[in-house]
Amino acid sequence: MKTRITELFKIQHPIIQGGMHYVGFAELAAAVSDAGGLGIITGLTQKTPEDLAGEILRCREMTDKPFGVNLTFLPTVTAPDYPGYIQAIIETGVKIVETAGRNPEPYLPFLQKAGIKVIHKCTSVRHALKAEKIGCDAVSVDGFECGGHPGEDDIPNMILLPRAADELKIPFVASGGMADARSLVASLSLGAEGINMGTRFIATKEAPVHEKVKQAILSARETDTRLVMRPLGNTERVLNNPAVERLLEKEAALGKNLRFEDIIDEVAGVYPRIMKEGLVETGVWSCGMVAGLIHDIPTCRELIDRIMSQAEDLIENRLQKML
Ligand SMILES: Cc1cc2nc3c(=O)[nH]c(=O)nc-3n(C[C@H](O)[C@H](O)[C@H](O)COP(=O)(O)O)c2cc1C
Repeated sequence: MKTRITELFKIQHPIIQGGMHYVGFAELAAAVSDAGGLGIITGLTQKTPEDLAGEILRCREMTDKPFGVNLTFLPTVTAPDYPGYIQAIIETGVKIVETAGRNPEPYLPFLQKAGIKVIHKCTSVRHALKAEKIGCDAVSVDGFECGGHPGEDDIPNMILLPRAADELKIPFVASGGMADARSLVASLSLGAEGINMGTRFIATKEAPVHEKVKQAILSARETDTRLVMRPLGNTERVLNNPAVERLLEKEAALGKNLRFEDIIDEVAGVYPRIMKEGLVETGVWSCGMVAGLIHDIPTCRELIDRIMSQAEDLIENRLQKML
């Protein structure tokens, strides 16, 4: 399949693996890229720019296909060493960066000068237009269904994607709720040029996370996610568990007086324990509604091949025959 996204990133299939904290290590990024998609290493999971450079080199040993690095611009008081991370990306010759979170504008000139293509992930048409205006090459449009941070507008992809198609000139991929060939064909119909998946790629053989994390996704239904931190304007979609229920009770009790410090036990620094040690109920972790569509743990190649062959079948047979 050829789309503006496969052309832009020089990949075989229009399927991207979004950056994921403590999931997007070299093993997963390499497996996705090797299978013809675009794998992405999560920059900030690496504690220092030197660690990120090491992870990039590790990934390059596992695949000769293009892969990218995610840089999430967090709303924190003490910012991570973004210039250092960018230098590591440039010096190791990575040619694709997925930015997310805050406006990437201050860093774009450095990336562009190094010939790096930038895809910015955003949750609204106005932010997508801003990304286009400041010179991003593509956007990932993340609907309300998505795992992680869906923003505060709550627009699901059935509306958000055609709205993006109406307004944008640069190509975009559909993100949030994507799991299979149906997701891909629907997204293409709505104007996207590919899909970005998070949660689906966690339940793959190569995802370097504890087996209990994968099983938790398999057991979950589409009704099992919750939105947390909405009172802080930092909404996150997570898989429900006792820690999430504790956090939501605090949110209900404290109302507008809620501060980040009140929920620090449930959110801060929990990812290594969840993803590596498999303590899946120890804190809150991102997961999309799409968990309800995930029933197996294939290899990344099996998953991507299945999506592409079933998508062709859907287009050529099911849709064509309706005409
Ligand atoms: C466990 C997990 C961690 C994530 N961490 C990040 C992150 O660090 N930076 C980022 O830009 N997006 C992050 N995301 C969002 C994904 O890149 C992707 O946009 C999202 O998962 C798409 O929705 P889906 O889960 O329905 O496929 C994360 C998602 C999950 C499930």
